[in-house]
Amino acid sequence: MIHVKSKAEIQKMRDAGKLAADVLNETGRLVRPGVTTLELNDFAHRYTTKHGAESAPLNYKGFPKSICTSVNNIVCHGIPKKTDVLKEGDIINIDITVKLAGFHGDTSRTFAVGEISAEARKLMEDTEKSMWIGIETVKPGNRISDIGDNIDAYLTPRGYGIVRDLCGHGIGRVFHEEPQVPHYKNNGSRALMRPGMTFTVEPMVNRGSWEVYTDPDDTWTVYTKDNSLSAQFEHTVLVTEDSFEVLTRA
Ligand code: MF3
Ligand code: CO
Ligand code: CO
Repeated sequence: MIHVKSKAEIQKMRDAGKLAADVLNETGRLVRPGVTTLELNDFAHRYTTKHGAESAPLNYKGFPKSICTSVNNIVCHGIPKKTDVLKEGDIINIDITVKLAGFHGDTSRTFAVGEISAEARKLMEDTEKSMWIGIETVKPGNRISDIGDNIDAYLTPRGYGIVRDLCGHGIGRVFHEEPQVPHYKNNGSRALMRPGMTFTVEPMVNRGSWEVYTDPDDTWTVYTKDNSLSAQFEHTVLVTEDSFEVLTRA
């Protein structure tokens, strides 16, 4: 069952989305060589609580920190650490989810640390572009699976690997709810979009193979199997009467 939000719930989703976007913006401004991912975590956590919200990842299914910080060949769910110092040439995805007045806003971007390679820049640009292609698919009557078909049609001819093990998701009072939103083609999420649905579009895109593995020690960090670079961009979107609204627009 996909939850269709009421007018009042949609307004709360807008408020949560706006705050998530602000946290991501402000945290992203701190990205530079020498900063630790723990410093980014602590800043985001303080900013979130100062604005009357909670960091949704903290203690979510046992996740130990308030945000996810995923550097270079880390696909997602990187755990902020004091020993994790950003260096020139890195790329880092910062993923922010806040819970405000009972509702979630979820958004992420990949940032460059100083000067990065042309290849990394291209990966970031193509990943962000693919997210927008997915979002622009959102419209009542289209199927959730159309999102993955369109993203795949852009990325696969360019030689990228689209992560299959992790997907976008419905979001509301619950952090991860139905529907699943896969980013690859011919997927089984064939539900029709209806006004009032809210879900994320968040392609994880590898410079190499789509295959990933999870760190057996921390049970969270997801890496590319072939060590290739990975980028991700994420927005929370609302299906409107005739198209979409991005709830986490910067
Ligand atoms: N924000 C991530 C997403 O886009 C989920 C992080 S769950 C956590 O769905 F536990 F790792 F924080
Ligand atoms: Co998400
Ligand atoms: Co997220």
